[in-house]
Amino acid sequence: MKIILIGANGQLGTDLVAALAGHNLMLAIRPGTAGRTQAGLPYVELDVSKPEQVRAAVASFQPDLVLNTAAFHRVDDIECDARLALQVNAWAAQQAALICREADIAMLYVSTDYVFDGRKGAPYVEDDLPNPLSAYGASKLAGELLIRSAWHKHYIIRTCGLYGLAGAMGKGGNFVNTMLRLGRESQQTGKPVRVVCDQVCTPTFTQDLAGQIAALIESSRYGTYHITSDGQCSWYEFTREIFRLAGIAVEPVAITSKELNLPARRPPYSVLRNAGLQALGIDQMRHWRAALADYLRQAGALAG
Ligand SMILES: NC(=O)c1ccc[n+]([C@@H]2O[C@H](COP(=O)([O-])OP(=O)(O)OC[C@H]3O[C@@H](n4cnc5c(N)ncnc54)[C@H](OP(=O)(O)O)[C@@H]3O)[C@@H](O)[C@H]2O)c1
Repeated sequence: MKIILIGANGQLGTDLVAALAGHNLMLAIRPGTAGRTQAGLPYVELDVSKPEQVRAAVASFQPDLVLNTAAFHRVDDIECDARLALQVNAWAAQQAALICREADIAMLYVSTDYVFDGRKGAPYVEDDLPNPLSAYGASKLAGELLIRSAWHKHYIIRTCGLYGLAGAMGKGGNFVNTMLRLGRESQQTGKPVRVVCDQVCTPTFTQDLAGQIAALIESSRYGTYHITSDGQCSWYEFTREIFRLAGIAVEPVAITSKELNLPARRPPYSVLRNAGLQALGIDQMRHWRAALADYLRQAGALAG
């Protein structure tokens, strides 16, 4: 398959480059960031919020699929000013869908568990009613709705709490790396590591997500899919497991979201069930504990 991969330098994008190695890939990266791209692979520089640049890339490469991982996802900044998020996560996503419709090719968009309000009290399935609590979640839901109304050959992937070896540049690093740093600092200084215990979800390793996306696009079964690791935990429980596996002898301090007092509200329970994948018989996502251990091993941070 010929694939344009937008956001190829990102956390998920980097792992998709590896997972899609058997395909004919064109990496699409932000202008001026070629130095961060894996050497030897063809790339085009484009800004996803400039549709004429996306259209030109599609016209020149003639892909079968445009896979869009680009996003503006600084959740708390977006709560104060949603303009850039609406431009990148919603409007640009719609424009990309319209370009794919013109060319009669498939597209893939990555959405989030933050489209849900977290009040269901049980894992969400794909056709549960979204009700975002944050402007970021609303911008992603807007992207989903605009894509669905623009072009039926789409995959919309909702995922959660991504961590990958490349780290999320757009967020200043991923949660696991931040906790490793804070945990090691705490061992030296005794400064407590405070983590919220009232947000339950399923953090997901981008390598697993990339492998699952590679399997899904083989199916040509378009639609909306939840893809997260198996199981569930609070960020506090997740941090305890990071410290245990990394041999960091620090007990994190459980706090509430209210105590943390961030601008954007997060869902208290946004566990997603991979119901669509299970119905297709292709759910290969492992438990979050196994994925985390594998990540730490590859990052050289696993104890023992
Ligand atoms: N991270 C999470 O916890 C999480 C959770 C749920 C869903 N998601 C979704 O999953 C997707 C991938 O997330 P990620 O963690 O891999 O993010 P990431 O590491 O920040 O990667 C996003 C990529 O998109 C690129 N990009 C941003 N704006 C662009 C623009 N206007 N034009 C072209 N490229 C642009 C970024 O370029 P630069 O590298 O130059 O910044 C980056 O390479 C996103 O759609 C995100 O909303 C993420």
